[in-house]
Amino acid sequence: MRASLHALPVLLMAACASPPAPGAGASASLPATASVAEGRLLTRIHCAGCHAVEPASESAHRDAPSLRLISRRYPVASLEEALGEGIVVGHPDMPEYRFRPEDVSALIAYLETIQD
Ligand code: HEC
Repeated sequence: MRASLHALPVLLMAACASPPAPGAGASASLPATASVAEGRLLTRIHCAGCHAVEPASESAHRDAPSLRLISRRYPVASLEEALGEGIVVGHPDMPEYRFRPEDVSALIAYLETIQD
């Protein structure tokens, strides 16, 4: 009865945790500088409409925290799963994203470089 309801999210997460990832493992050998540059580009395309994405800039959306401050709340790397699986935050103004694994790595790499 209740137990089956509780099992549902676990099953959904298990399904999401194994995306088809051809060439997985190769991403570790990406040159760090290239992925930082790519991550910067991705934040400008996808996030800058609301969030400040540069080391010193103001967010366009008044509720969106500057991305250089997110490490005050949690490790930047903890976003990895959220960005790849489309479950970032439950805010109505924040769209859901599903980035490819290499783009997630690039985003994280860039975000690490701008943290206060
Ligand atoms: C349409 C506007 C919009 C876009 C585009 C957007 N966000 Fe957000 N985001 C928000 C808002 C608004 C919040 C605040 C949510 C809240 O306080 O509940 C938020 C919150 C967040 C948080 C949580 C911050 C915290 O302190 O808990 C993270 C992380 C985040 N966004 C990352 C991103 C990333 C990375 C991108 C680009 C891939 C992005 N957002 C694109 C509007 C946006």
